[in-house]
Amino acid sequence: MKHFLTVKDIDSLPQWVAEAIALKQDPYQFKNLGRGKTICLLFFNNSLRTRLSTQKAAIHLGMEVMVMNFGNEGWSLEYEDGLIMDQGTSEHIREAAQVVSQYCDMVAIRAFAGLKDKSKDEAEEVLMGFTQFASVPVVNMESSTAHPLQALADAITLAENKITAKPKVVLSWAPHPKALPHAVANSFVRMIKRQEVDFSITHPEGYELNPEITEGCPVAYDQEKALENADFIYVKNWSSYTHYGQILSKDANWMMTSEKLGNAKFMHCLPVRRNVVVEDVVLDGTQSLVVEQAKNRTFSAQIVLKKLLEEL
Ligand code: CP
Repeated sequence: MKHFLTVKDIDSLPQWVAEAIALKQDPYQFKNLGRGKTICLLFFNNSLRTRLSTQKAAIHLGMEVMVMNFGNEGWSLEYEDGLIMDQGTSEHIREAAQVVSQYCDMVAIRAFAGLKDKSKDEAEEVLMGFTQFASVPVVNMESSTAHPLQALADAITLAENKITAKPKVVLSWAPHPKALPHAVANSFVRMIKRQEVDFSITHPEGYELNPEITEGCPVAYDQEKALENADFIYVKNWSSYTHYGQILSKDANWMMTSEKLGNAKFMHCLPVRRNVVVEDVVLDGTQSLVVEQAKNRTFSAQIVLKKLLEEL
């Protein structure tokens, strides 16, 4: 593996999950692997979990960590070639990616979708710009269309909590006051399609995800019916993909409640808006896995960094 950009870069999901769970038992067992190596984390958007868990993972492996809030503190980057750069952008990705590569042994990037121009978001200009021009491995810490570190943490959490061989897993849309990207849902679907599960998606009409990603996944508009007898309910808001980036519904009836949850385990990537996406009693109850998911972000990052270090 040269870079870690999508769930597709995971060659064997069961093996990576098993290795991550083993790392969790003894996080410092490879503490010399990253000695003398540096990872540079570049954030074009906010973060709590991704920033701290990726740092922690690197520390477990003995790496040095440099973090930059590029979105606030870096020069605004240009990604198009051949432009006369006399407008707002100050530096081209060609120089920036090569320069960053001289300071570190791998670079991790967070750059969300703008949700205005679908083709621009799908081109992943920040992530792919660094991948094209950096001379070191690139790690996706959530891009316009994918959040593979979250999906891998979710796979670890599912493995640790499932009590049946083929659990029923439902991805359920929830309302949100802001238009949110599709990255978490996309990567969750890509990951879950590689699992032995009974999987379906429920959302209001108009919230269909990218059909190339959801191909083969049952979709229901009747949330209560879809959730019946679920073992795991993964709740997430996303904006419309068809009417790109738009909010088509804020229907509070789609909020997750303890009644709808039944006996299922509740999953969400966090951050989550209480009593908008999910009611307090679900988050505070024993069926919520959200804090475990966040803990597993360290070990999903650690298995990825370990595999990249082994290739250096
Ligand atoms: N789940 C997740 O990526 O959290 P942060 O946005 O806080 O990093």
